[in-house]
Amino acid sequence: IPIAAPDNISDCVAATSNLRNSKDAIRGLACCPPVLSTNKPMDYVLPSNPVIRVRPAAQKATADYIAKYQQAIQAMKDLPEDHPHSWKQQGKIHCAYCNGGYNQEQSGYPNLQLQIHNSWLFFPFHRWYLYFYEKILGKLINDPTFALPYWNWDNPTGMVIPAMFEQNSKTNSLFDPLRDAKHLPPSIFDVEYAGADTGATCIDQIAINLSSMYRQMVTNSTDTKRFFGGEFVAGNDPLASEFNVAGTVEAGVHTAAHRWVGNSRMANSEDMGNFYSAGYDPLFYVHHANVDRMWQIWKDIDKKTHKDPTSGDWLNASYVFYDENENLVRVYNRDCVDINRMGYDYERSAIPWIRSRP
Ligand code: C2O
Repeated sequence: IPIAAPDNISDCVAATSNLRNSKDAIRGLACCPPVLSTNKPMDYVLPSNPVIRVRPAAQKATADYIAKYQQAIQAMKDLPEDHPHSWKQQGKIHCAYCNGGYNQEQSGYPNLQLQIHNSWLFFPFHRWYLYFYEKILGKLINDPTFALPYWNWDNPTGMVIPAMFEQNSKTNSLFDPLRDAKHLPPSIFDVEYAGADTGATCIDQIAINLSSMYRQMVTNSTDTKRFFGGEFVAGNDPLASEFNVAGTVEAGVHTAAHRWVGNSRMANSEDMGNFYSAGYDPLFYVHHANVDRMWQIWKDIDKKTHKDPTSGDWLNASYVFYDENENLVRVYNRDCVDINRMGYDYERSAIPWIRSRP
């Protein structure tokens, strides 16, 4: 049976899981979405013939684009907190899906938590999360073509936190004070960061990163299971380690960036360093845009063997979101496998790691 988020979002409970120190969880553990009506979520239908929104590489974004993006995030922050599109509510989504907010009641296992990390649900869940987040931002600035930038950490020109997140901290909606001070620009990201800085020179760190990206995307991702992670279905307990099998990119560069950006002096490494708080850093969505781009690139670099899962348990797994019109909708993995059908694409950026076989 495929995993399904509950119809009754009002059954959501406060976060309890994956917290190092829940007493000091300064962002708060009340992660449940606002309940606007008692109607069941409707199955979401992708708009036909969408205008393609092109997500730019953050380090190449123009000043006009950056201003627009900052304005959109500011508009989100200016909404009343209980509005489903508010910055707080959008950040809570991650907490609810990752820190024990929901259970598997929809599929008959109310005593088991729902978890979308460390398994094949990782890529599709985050794709849908960004999909609505991007549309909401576009709606807030009246620009249906608005596309999120991506943090191009797999290219040497993008291996620092993009400048737009750090400039003018007092007035910049993209700024988050809860980031590790050691890792602000010009510090070069370590795509294998696990809590300790390597001390490598810039040139060396870039070379290390490129060969690591090759390992993550090619050498260690030769088949669907290795790339996507374990087959998590209804009835599996995410608190049991046998059901925590992350794919190469999730376990690798994805988690490394969370740990590298989050402030290690905070009780739960807020913001990026814990599931419950990661969604409160605007950089989260830009990091995940590049993670999402890796899914697309992985399929493109070997069309014969790099394939999406085909099992019904994956295709029919579903999540519940508020869309850009504040409608509660249910979305399925099967509808997120083609980004052009979803109405977006990525600005091209070279992938030098493809020639960096270690
Ligand atoms: Cu849902 Cu980057 O984690």
